[in-house]
This record gives sequence, C-alpha cells and structure tokens, in this order.
Amino acid sequence: MHRVYNFSAGPAVLPEEVLREAADEMLDYQGTGMSVMEMSHRSAAFDEIIKTAEQDLRDLMGIPDNYKVLFLQGGASQQFAAVPMNLMKNGVADYIVTGQWAKKAYQEAQKYGKAVKVASSEDETFSYIPDCSDLPIDDDADYVYICENNTIYGTKYKKLPNTKGKTLVADVSSCFLSEPVDVTKYGVIYGGVQKNVGPAGVVIAIIREDLIPEKPAVENTPTMLAWKTQADADSLYNTPPCYGIYICGKVFKWLKKMGGLEEMQ
Ligand SMILES: Cc1ncc(COP(=O)(O)O)c(C=O)c1O
Repeated sequence: MHRVYNFSAGPAVLPEEVLREAADEMLDYQGTGMSVMEMSHRSAAFDEIIKTAEQDLRDLMGIPDNYKVLFLQGGASQQFAAVPMNLMKNGVADYIVTGQWAKKAYQEAQKYGKAVKVASSEDETFSYIPDCSDLPIDDDADYVYICENNTIYGTKYKKLPNTKGKTLVADVSSCFLSEPVDVTKYGVIYGGVQKNVGPAGVVIAIIREDLIPEKPAVENTPTMLAWKTQADADSLYNTPPCYGIYICGKVFKWLKKMGGLEEMQ
C-alpha cells in the first residue's frame, strides 16, 4: 500500500489508525450487522456515536455546560449566512477582514444588515494580522467576527481582538483542535471539519446558549439555518451527516489518546 505525504489544507490527512478502525467496522459496526452509513440516525447505536463524540469534544476543548455543540451541514460557508441571520438583532456587526474567508463572510453578512469592516490587511495581500487592541467597535454591534487562522495566507491571531465587550465569533476551520482554547472568550466558535477533524460534510458550531435566539434575528431565515432548530433537536432535526460525525468521534478519541490539545500544539 502506498500512502502519500498529504499536506493539503483540506480535505486533509486523517490518522491512519482512525481510517483502519473505520475500515474494520465498515461492514458490521459493533455487531449491528451494518455500516454506520446504513444505520438510522434515530437508532440507539447512532445515538451513542453522536453523544460520545460530543462528550469527547467537550473534554478536549473544555467546553462549558452553557455552550451547545451542534453538528451541522452546509460547510463553513453556510455559517457565513447563519451567523448574521441568528445574531444580527441590532442589524450591525463588525468584521476583521484578514483573508479571503473572512472577506466572504463579511460580504455575506452585508446581505442581512450593516456589516462594518473595522480592520483589514487587504492592503498588503492579507500578509499580516492588524493590531486589534483598540478597534472602532460599534456601540450597537451584535458581534465581532474573525477568521482565526487564514488558511490561504498562513496568518493566525496570536492574541484575540479586544472586542470591547462584544460577542466574539470565530471561524476556526483551519486551526480547530490544534491548540488549547479558552472557549469562554468566544460567543461562537465554528469550523468545517475537513481540515483538522474529519471528512467534508460536517460543520461543528459551539455556541453560547444565550446567543441562540428563540427566533433568528433576520426575518424569514430558513428553518435549517436557525441555530435553535438544531439546538432543540440535539443536531437531529433532520438526518445529520452520520458517517462524518462517526469519523470525527474517532478523531476526538485519537486526539485524547495522543495527549489532547496541549500535545497537538
Ligand atoms: C478558514 C476557512 N473558512 C471557511 C472555509 C470554507 O469551508 P467550506 O468549504 O466547508 O464551506 C474554508 C475552506 O477552505 C476555510 O479555510
């Protein structure tokens, strides 16, 4: 067998041990007589898979009880819309634009309210992270948005921005689980898993419960994009990306076995 050295940003390499385990369980997952791809998302076996995955992620990141962990679909790009749709109560949000993904999120948010670019590094081809210690944060900003690691440019925040008390929302798609994190500094942490955690098709969103609105801030938000829909249903409002969640769960176990996020760092 020939395995290449795969340095792709994503979809990216997965631990061989995880792939082998999944291969062993392909035809018969733990005596169920079927693959995880074939089983109901309402079955006891899958209930155990998703609950264990969530608990292992909580352990790895030290996620406090007042944060929901959602396993979603639509890629990280879908959250570019879901974030303003759920959070833009005052219709204002501040964006720090440090790369193409932050720029896309900023452009998407403009469709739903007043998205303000409070800092940018586009003047020098996104080659640096701007000084975020004293930004002109809007008094009525519903949140401050960052892309914490800029996949294309390789820049990463060493220090989180001073949001002046506003909720911090971070896209962590390409730095997810790569170092210890203080979840309490964020209102929302989300990322597509296909770079650091599992196969494409799963987005993990960690959202402080009080930020999940009864009704999304934007009228006519599709049911599927209202975080409350998935929060109330423990990510099982509709059929979730079951196999992807199962692989993520295996990667979480592998990360724990390796020594957790300190070791990853
Ligand atoms: C930081 C970051 N955000 C968002 C995305 C978009 O992710 P998706 O393809 O899951 O929509 C990417 C993809 O490379 C990314 O690197």
